[in-house]
Amino acid sequence: PMSVKIAPSILASDFANLQSEIEMLNASEADYIHVDIMDGVFVPNISFGIPVTEAVNRHAKKPLDVHLMIVNPDQYLEAFHKAGAEIISVHYEACDHLHRTLQAIRNLGCKTGVALNPHTSVSLLEDVIQDIDLVCLMSVNPGFGGQKFIENTYSKVRQLKALIERKGTSTMIEIDGGVNENNAPLLIAAGADVLVAGNFVFSSNDPIETIKRLKSLKN
Ligand code: DX5
Ligand code: ZN
Repeated sequence: PMSVKIAPSILASDFANLQSEIEMLNASEADYIHVDIMDGVFVPNISFGIPVTEAVNRHAKKPLDVHLMIVNPDQYLEAFHKAGAEIISVHYEACDHLHRTLQAIRNLGCKTGVALNPHTSVSLLEDVIQDIDLVCLMSVNPGFGGQKFIENTYSKVRQLKALIERKGTSTMIEIDGGVNENNAPLLIAAGADVLVAGNFVFSSNDPIETIKRLKSLKN
């Protein structure tokens, strides 16, 4: 099987030295750059927005995986597309008309992503999974980096994997929150395709080596 994909989250990077952080990721084995957008409404925190995403994209040699933790995402899809997003993930809990939102993302030429909060059942994707390129399973409550991994995530990965296989889609499974080298092998074994890692990468002594280690893990 292919090795797991790694998406370091720049939420944990040094914002005053973003260019060098992006250059570090360019030089690493990272597959994506995970960009966490928080609006202070959907989640109790504010991160950064469209101009910063655009600035990151100017230096990035890896595709941007943009995670929108915002209400009314439809209003901003085109702006994030123009800012360089390759994948745009919206939250299931923030979309009254998820199918329409996914069509809008697809029509922009981006890959479609749907993020699920820890309390949101994978079974709710039964009738929309065929329109999703990536499901982002939140393994913490969104809003902050550096939180503790929620163990129930393993069973959600297995359920999602079963749904994807039953429907015959090529949807990727991404895990976001509290990922480290202890839970990563179990997540890969359960069916994870992409691991987001914020603090585990950026707080390590050698982020490039840490990314390499995560990527080489087998289940
Ligand atoms: C949480 C964000 C995550 C977070 C991951 O709201 O969506 O992407 O930055 O950071 P760590 O790996 O530190 O939990
Ligand atoms: Zn995220």
